[in-house]
Amino acid sequence: MTSFPMPTMPAPPVAVVGLGQLGGSLAAALAAAGREVSGWDVDPAAREAAAARGVTITQEMGGVVVLAVPLPAMNTALEGLTIDPDATITDLGSVKRPVVASLEAAFGGRFVGGHPMCGSERSGHTAVDPTLFTGARWALCLEPGTELPRWLRVAEVALAVGAEVVPVTAVEHDDAVAAISHVPHLLAAALAAAAATSPLALALAAGSFRDGTRVIGSDPAFVTAMVEGNAVPTAEALARVQAQLDRPWPELIAAGHAVATRQPAMRTLRVPLERAALLAVGRAGGAITRRLAAFVEGWVPER
Ligand SMILES: NC(=O)c1ccc[n+]([C@@H]2O[C@H](COP(=O)([O-])OP(=O)(O)OC[C@H]3O[C@@H](n4cnc5c(N)ncnc54)[C@H](O)[C@@H]3O)[C@@H](O)[C@H]2O)c1
Repeated sequence: MTSFPMPTMPAPPVAVVGLGQLGGSLAAALAAAGREVSGWDVDPAAREAAAARGVTITQEMGGVVVLAVPLPAMNTALEGLTIDPDATITDLGSVKRPVVASLEAAFGGRFVGGHPMCGSERSGHTAVDPTLFTGARWALCLEPGTELPRWLRVAEVALAVGAEVVPVTAVEHDDAVAAISHVPHLLAAALAAAAATSPLALALAAGSFRDGTRVIGSDPAFVTAMVEGNAVPTAEALARVQAQLDRPWPELIAAGHAVATRQPAMRTLRVPLERAALLAVGRAGGAITRRLAAFVEGWVPER
C-alpha cells in the first residue's frame, strides 16, 4: 500500500517535577533535542544540575507536566506549583493502579499514567543520563476515561527521547511488572540474605550472584514503596515463581532456557488512533514506534 505520511502535531512544552534520575534524565534528553523543557525539584542541587543542562527552572508549568517524584510524593508534588488548567498531566511511577486512581480523581481524562522501563539502582540528580530512554519500552495507560489526544501527546514525548510506547491499562501494567520487576527485587533480596549466612559463599560469589542480586543496591525506601504499592499482583506473581520451583529441576531449567532462546520475528503494523486497537498492540507484546497524523506505527511479535 502506498504511504502518505502526514506531519505530526507541533510538540508541546514539557515540564518535569522531580529532577532526579528519571526526571532529570528526561528533561536533559528533551533539552538536548532542542525541546522547550522546564522543571522543578525540592532539592536545590537537583535544580542547579538541571539548569546546567538547559532546563528552565520554574514553578509555573503547562503543556505536558511530568511527575517524576518518588511514589509516596506523587499525590502532593503539584501542591504549591502553578499548573495551566489545560495541561496534560503524566507520571513515571513504577506502580500504576494507585497512582492512576488518585490522579484521575484529581485531573480526570487530563491524566495519563506512565512508566518508562529503564533506570538503575542509582538515584538522584548525579544518576542523570540523557540516553536513559533510548530503546526503552514506556508503558502508557489508556484507561476508559483517558482523553486520547492527551495520551498521544504524552506518547509523543516518550517517542521524542527514543522510547517505544506500550499501550496498557493500569491493571495490566501492574500484573506484568509484578512478574518482571517487583518479584525480581524480592528474589534478589532473598538470594543476598540467604547467601550472607556463609562468609565463604560471599567470598566465592561471582557472575551469577552479581547478576541475580544487582538490584539490591537500590534505595530500600524506593523498593518498599514499589512492592507494597503493588502488593496483591506481586504476591500472586511470587506464588507462580514458587510453583515453578516445585517442578523437576531438569524440566524447569529447560523451560527457562527455552524462554531465553526464543526469538520471534517482528511484524510492523499501522494502528488506528483508537483505544481497543492501541491496547491490542500492548497485549500482543508489541510497541508503538512512530506517530503520524491519522495513525501510529508499531510492531508486534509474530505468533
Ligand atoms: N529508578 C528507577 O529505576 C525507576 C524506573 C522507572 C520509574 N521510576 C519511577 O520514577 C520516579 C522517580 O524515580 P527516580 O529513580 O528518578 O527517583 P530519584 O530519587 O532519583 O529522584 C526523585 C526526585 O524527586 C525529587 N522530589 C521529591 N519530592 C518532591 C516534591 N514533592 N516536589 C518536587 N521534587 C521532589 C527529589 O528531590 C529527587 O530529585 C518514581 O516514581 C519511580 O517509581 C524509577
